[in-house]
Amino acid sequence: MLQHLKFLTAGESHGKGLSGILEGFPAGVPLSESFIARDLARRQMGHGRGGRMTIEKDHAEITSGLRHGNTLGSPIALWIQNRDWENWKQDKMSHEAPSNPVPEVTLPRPGHADLAGVQKFGFSDIRNVLERSSARETAMRVALGAVCRAFLNELGVKIFSHVIQIGPVKTATKPDQLHTDLNKAADASDVRCLDKEAAEAMIKHIDITRKAGDSVGGVFEVLASGLPPGLGSYTHWDRKLDARLAAAMMSINAMKSVSIGDGLDVGEATGSQVHDEIILQDDTIRRATNHAGGIEGGMSNGELIQVQVTMKPIPTLARPLRSVDIKTHEPGIAHKERTDACAVPAASVIGEAMMALVLTDAILEKFGGDSLDQVKAHIAATGV
Ligand SMILES: Cc1cc2nc3c(=O)[nH]c(=O)nc-3n(C[C@H](O)[C@H](O)[C@H](O)COP(=O)(O)O)c2cc1C
Repeated sequence: MLQHLKFLTAGESHGKGLSGILEGFPAGVPLSESFIARDLARRQMGHGRGGRMTIEKDHAEITSGLRHGNTLGSPIALWIQNRDWENWKQDKMSHEAPSNPVPEVTLPRPGHADLAGVQKFGFSDIRNVLERSSARETAMRVALGAVCRAFLNELGVKIFSHVIQIGPVKTATKPDQLHTDLNKAADASDVRCLDKEAAEAMIKHIDITRKAGDSVGGVFEVLASGLPPGLGSYTHWDRKLDARLAAAMMSINAMKSVSIGDGLDVGEATGSQVHDEIILQDDTIRRATNHAGGIEGGMSNGELIQVQVTMKPIPTLARPLRSVDIKTHEPGIAHKERTDACAVPAASVIGEAMMALVLTDAILEKFGGDSLDQVKAHIAATGV
């Protein structure tokens, strides 16, 4: 649902690496590999992650679209090497058929892409599916999102996220005042939660769940500040900013619901409880509250954008669920891979990346411009 930008990712979880291309991105944006590395490191944090995070220290190499520290307006290509490739290339992930056939994965995991994936492509080995359906791919989305963050930073647009629920444990309060550096505060917590008491209870819950060989999901919130009104449009279904954000968040592996502003609570509230009164403040027309989460009629309204996303529990379980062998049709238990018990903190950083991609697209759609300076001039000319 991107209108102006295009991006593509490629790569398998234990393949050689991940490739990404971002097209339609303006020239003149200051960018470096170390800037992208910060968000990649943030994606790798969080209590409940599996062993992989100690093997992979992700680094995105910028292979095109950059000169002397500034983007060129040409496609930006990124490459993230999978360090685990060295351990896998001889047999399981070799490009040629191996001399000694490796055992196929034939017991699909409930909740994963395994069964529908082999049925779709007619594969006999689930590895052909799981290598690409793995959330490893989201490392590249975070890298591409960081490129967009570099652009948004230049316009004073900030994107934050924090975890508000792990399993049954919820934060007591949501921050109604935006911290100047909410991400710094969230990153300081092992579960990216701003409420210290809740964070401790979340960590305990993850540990108990992991010990039981099980997994747990949760909810995170992604916020964006500094946006002008009028991004997106009420004029057509696929231009609506809320729809575009929802699709982007839903596209992250394991996300099962997206809500905006008061979100799921609006179903039981009345109109006067939900709608934000319009007031004059310092000669500016704005809202007295922000129940709408910064979006009305499919457009940004100039207030803080607030999107909540629910992640289901991770499908690969240390104590696997029942399954059926796709070749023999014998009942068995599902395949086990090295797995996370909880990845909600990491998912919140991926949510930031998707928000950055969608907002960059919406800004370029509305204001246009081939370079950062042109975009800035166009924004200034509209007086928003
Ligand atoms: C950051 C992150 C890490 C994940 N780690 C795992 C994992 O270790 N094991 C697993 O089975 N699923 C993991 N998942 C979830 C699966 O990728 C996802 O459930 C699967 O692709 C099926 O897609 P669906 O849940 O959207 O239907 C992770 C998801 C995210 C966002």
